[in-house]
Amino acid sequence: MSWSSLDQEYLMHTYQRLPIAIEKGEGNYLIDEEGTSYLDLFTGLAVNILGHSHPYLLRKLEEQAHQFLHISNVFLNKPAITLAQRLIDQSVQGKVFFANSGAEAVEASVKLIHQWKKQHDNTKNGIVVLENSFHGRTLGSIQLTRQAGIYQDFPAADYPVYETQAHDLESLEAVFQEKKPAALLMEPVLGSGGIMPLSEMFLEEAEKLCRQYGVLFCVDEIQTGMGRTGPLFAYQHTNVEPDIILFAKGIGGGLPLGGLIAKAGLGNLFQPGDHGTTFGPNPLSAALGNAVLDVLLDQGGLENGRDHANYLWSQLEYLKVRSGGKITEIRGRGMMLGILLKAGEGEVKNMQQQLLRRGFMVNVTQGTIIRLLPPLTLKKQETDSFVQALEEELTIMNEAGEPE
Ligand SMILES: Cc1ncc(COP(=O)(O)O)c(C=O)c1O
Repeated sequence: MSWSSLDQEYLMHTYQRLPIAIEKGEGNYLIDEEGTSYLDLFTGLAVNILGHSHPYLLRKLEEQAHQFLHISNVFLNKPAITLAQRLIDQSVQGKVFFANSGAEAVEASVKLIHQWKKQHDNTKNGIVVLENSFHGRTLGSIQLTRQAGIYQDFPAADYPVYETQAHDLESLEAVFQEKKPAALLMEPVLGSGGIMPLSEMFLEEAEKLCRQYGVLFCVDEIQTGMGRTGPLFAYQHTNVEPDIILFAKGIGGGLPLGGLIAKAGLGNLFQPGDHGTTFGPNPLSAALGNAVLDVLLDQGGLENGRDHANYLWSQLEYLKVRSGGKITEIRGRGMMLGILLKAGEGEVKNMQQQLLRRGFMVNVTQGTIIRLLPPLTLKKQETDSFVQALEEELTIMNEAGEPE
């Protein structure tokens, strides 16, 4: 039986998988069991920011593995303490809570926001999020995910959620006035909602409204964090200072790790017993978190990532000009890009398959947006080869004369 058939038989079909059995990851490439290499341009959905099998990460992983794999939160966890201190040094003064995934980080923030309103202002309740936002799929976080296919009719945890549109400050203020929410939570660049960056002006004005109405200003940096958009966290493009910063994905270097940084004053709201998780964080994940920060902050990873992203943007923008209107928009920030084509769902799906056939893995979101989440380590010649392949595929698509 093929791996594909075994997968069909034994795993729940919560994802539409490509029929490729990966044997190995090497640098920016994934290699399948037939030995075919693919340039990985979506990095395990924004996780492998430094590519695959990064030698420094593997060394740090091995060092930690020889010390201990798990000790529980009953003991002092040195890799976790170090990582928390470093994350705080790079963001806001406060305290860190570690979990194992993005959704768990969101769940922790919902509970923390609840504690805050109970102790500070019990007239407030609920969380404001943006239309098309994505904040996870667990029962608590799914309510904050405003995408119909995901939200569905699963049982909901009992707290109010208000939805407003990106860049609409008037509606946001109206919600603050009428509903008295406790918090506002936003992705600085909406990810699966269509790679939509929030303007710096909107983020800064939204923060001002939060201060005016006594609402916690929270950012979901689960996808945008760890240098993906340029700075370590995407909010750092602006002058805002969030009360709560959520992180996951890239920080673990490929291992499950998530959590939140809560500004001073919020950091003491959880008492023993209020929240917890057995692994949070697993020492291996925390050690990799420290290794990721070493590479990003001490070994030039962030600067290199910015250079690589600038080059990718320049080449794609130039291709857009040459594409004769076939590429209608390129949007996003840093290594988080959406390429919008003048094409329908079928053609975009076909484009994805053709690129795969040529050895380039891209993701598609919202049916028609080619989503790139490349590693910060993407080399110039890798960009060149991808842009050339995309251009050739666009030409074929043009010749077929089927654009919608
Ligand atoms: C912005 C954002 N928040 C939350 C999540 C949920 O993270 P996880 O899949 O680790 O639960 C994701 C995952 O894609 C995300 O992109």
